[in-house]
Amino acid sequence: MSDAAALRYQNPDKEKRAVPLDCCGGLNNVDFSKMDLTLIEGLLKLTNFQDSSFCVAVAAIIFNPFFWNVVARWEHRTHSLSKLFGSPYLACYCLGFVIILLNVYRSHSMTVAMKAQAKWEVMDRTDVFYAGAGLMVLGTVLVVSSFLALGFTGTFLGDYFGILMDEKVTGFPFNITENPMYWGSTANYLGLALIGASPVGLVLTAIVAVVYKMAIRFEGPFTELIYQERSQRRKRE
Ligand SMILES: *[C@@H]1O[C@H](CO)[C@@H](O)[C@H](O)[C@H]1NC(C)=O
Repeated sequence: MSDAAALRYQNPDKEKRAVPLDCCGGLNNVDFSKMDLTLIEGLLKLTNFQDSSFCVAVAAIIFNPFFWNVVARWEHRTHSLSKLFGSPYLACYCLGFVIILLNVYRSHSMTVAMKAQAKWEVMDRTDVFYAGAGLMVLGTVLVVSSFLALGFTGTFLGDYFGILMDEKVTGFPFNITENPMYWGSTANYLGLALIGASPVGLVLTAIVAVVYKMAIRFEGPFTELIYQERSQRRKRE
């Protein structure tokens, strides 16, 4: 008897709430109401929140968007980096390079935390592995295509350096989601956590998603403002 079948056998009342999903073959015996609870309980039980590698990863996840927003707004206000480097383009390239390094470090620290903490045998299955691989392909497509659509300065806060896009990019992948870079990166981390069968990976991915959501709320209106200012300048000219 499979685990799911055993659960239902012990708790026949749950039978009615089991969701039949014919399209998913092996999943049609899983009781999702039970699974949600088990998932969250398992995640919290299996994650060691006091582990130093976990704390380092959380710090990196929170620090990165904080850093680039603070630096970019400072630059927009004072043009200090453009003056220092002698050119807004060079300044933007340097900030972009630092952001890339910070994000590499964030990925590294998440991988270290995942390796330091236990796998979860519930997730250690072929279908979960393939779902993770699929998410990583999707995430990479979103990240790479938005980089190609925006270019280097468009990706790395060029607007704040006065390097504005000619017009808003609306083609793929921006016709799928407003912030393909952020959600693509989140999909990559979720995929990594699934492939590694890592409960701490899932917790860290959730933190990435929350932090990105906050960053988008903070950045969105400011970027709009920069472009509004330009269209007002153009009207005056
Ligand atoms: C987004 O744009 C691409 C390329 O222009 C197109 O193939 C795709 O169907 C569009 N997707 C949506 C959801 O509009």
